[in-house]
Amino acid sequence: MTSTTERSLVLIKPDAVRRGLLGEILSRFERKGLVIEALELRTMDASLADAHYAEHVDKAFYPPLKDFMTSGPLAALVLSGDSVIEVVRAMIGATDGRKAAAGTIRGDLALSNRENLVHASDSPESAERELALWFPKI
Ligand code: PPS
Repeated sequence: MTSTTERSLVLIKPDAVRRGLLGEILSRFERKGLVIEALELRTMDASLADAHYAEHVDKAFYPPLKDFMTSGPLAALVLSGDSVIEVVRAMIGATDGRKAAAGTIRGDLALSNRENLVHASDSPESAERELALWFPKI
């Protein structure tokens, strides 16, 4: 298998910060061998939420999702590593924590499809777009 170093935008969401799970989740990424290139505690404002979730703004679930994502500080990360986009998506598990496989972050620690602890870019195109929104200088 060829090696492809790439970067992903990862958000450790406000529920994780409130529940004291930031260290646990960061530790999983570090133990996997991924590199934290940037890490900032930020509170998402309404305009950043609308830009970040541009493909979802017209969906019925978006207003409560926006309320949740802007409800308190989250940790925004740039992670890098071999195939990091696919690797992190596998580590966080399915969107709905009730259905996510045991061993994944959501499968072990979440019971919701809204308060599901982590967001991660789902493709190289989304990573490029999301990294430019969150870390324009990197
Ligand atoms: S979709 O419709 O399949 O593209 O949605 P998905 O990629 O699974 O999820 C996109 C983000 O929306 C959140 N989500 C929800 N929030 C609240 N209620 C419901 N029903 C819901 N369904 C999806 C989900 O947590 C995803 O957030 P991110 O930040 O991308 O992980």
